[in-house]
Amino acid sequence: MNIAILSRNPALYSTQSLVNAARKRNHYVRIFDHMQCDLVIEENSPCIYYHGQRVKNIQAVIPRIGDSATVYGASVIRQFELMKIFSTLKADPLLKARDKISCMQILAANGIAVPKSTISNNVMTIGQMIDEVGPMPVVIKLANGTHGLGVMLAEQKKMAESIVEAFHKTKQKVFLQQFIAEAKGADVRVFVVNNEVVGVMKRQAAEGEFRSNLHRGATSEVIQLTEAEMKVARKAARVMGLNVAGVDMLQTSRGPMVLEVNASPGLEGIETTTGHDIASKIIKYVEKNYNYI
Ligand SMILES: Nc1ncnc2c1ncn2[C@@H]1O[C@H](COP(=O)(O)OP(=O)(O)O)[C@@H](O)[C@H]1O
Ligand SMILES: [Mg+2]
Repeated sequence: MNIAILSRNPALYSTQSLVNAARKRNHYVRIFDHMQCDLVIEENSPCIYYHGQRVKNIQAVIPRIGDSATVYGASVIRQFELMKIFSTLKADPLLKARDKISCMQILAANGIAVPKSTISNNVMTIGQMIDEVGPMPVVIKLANGTHGLGVMLAEQKKMAESIVEAFHKTKQKVFLQQFIAEAKGADVRVFVVNNEVVGVMKRQAAEGEFRSNLHRGATSEVIQLTEAEMKVARKAARVMGLNVAGVDMLQTSRGPMVLEVNASPGLEGIETTTGHDIASKIIKYVEKNYNYI
């Protein structure tokens, strides 16, 4: 097959891992920087130009879209959809997953447990919405942060109020969330491909830190999930419409609580921690499904 990978940087671990896995299985691979794709939209022969050349003979695309390129990246993916080319990530699920507020709402609508979250767009009612998720401390999140950046813990109510007000002032979408102290700075990353759990790791935040992102210095280890936990992770990916997903959840006495579903989850942490060749799982998923769009 001819497979295209959308990636801004061919040197990234995730991109390299996918390229190697595809080549090992005798596919021809091209890497396109999505920000350099020009789109021609029309009903009969929509197409993409890359560095001035019309893109031809691609059977499947594997997008790796970073958070700085979400909107244009989604347009490029939608263009591949318009051209009837199979994509492991569709435009709509990408946009939904990149907005943590939509993600929380979709999960909750499908009966998946999430930490109680509140939003207020009104200076007068922020205090009330803090009380809803309290007692203090409470978590404050930017709707579109990643790698733990944009996730804060406010110890006092006054502090939480001023942080939310400051973000409103800069027109940033922000929401409040109940702090799940019993997670003790750990979370679980579940990698799901085509409704199957292909890798699980527990991440423990660095000393003095509650965010367990590897980018924030967390350590990771392999753990075994219960059937019930795996079911929740698979369901979270499914209801978000993601066939390749990184589901982040907290383990609590009430069962797993899903924090977010990542649409372009990194491969480095999960492959090196688990020793699983997850890139090959993605390529095999493409091989089985590229004809059915
Ligand atoms: N409500 C919460 N209670 C406890 N810890 C949390 C909560 N929300 C986030 N965290 C911690 O912060 C990390 C980052 O939060 P997350 O919502 O996954 O945002 P990001 O997209 O930045 O990874 C999580 O992996 C978890 O360790
Ligand atoms: Mg996360």
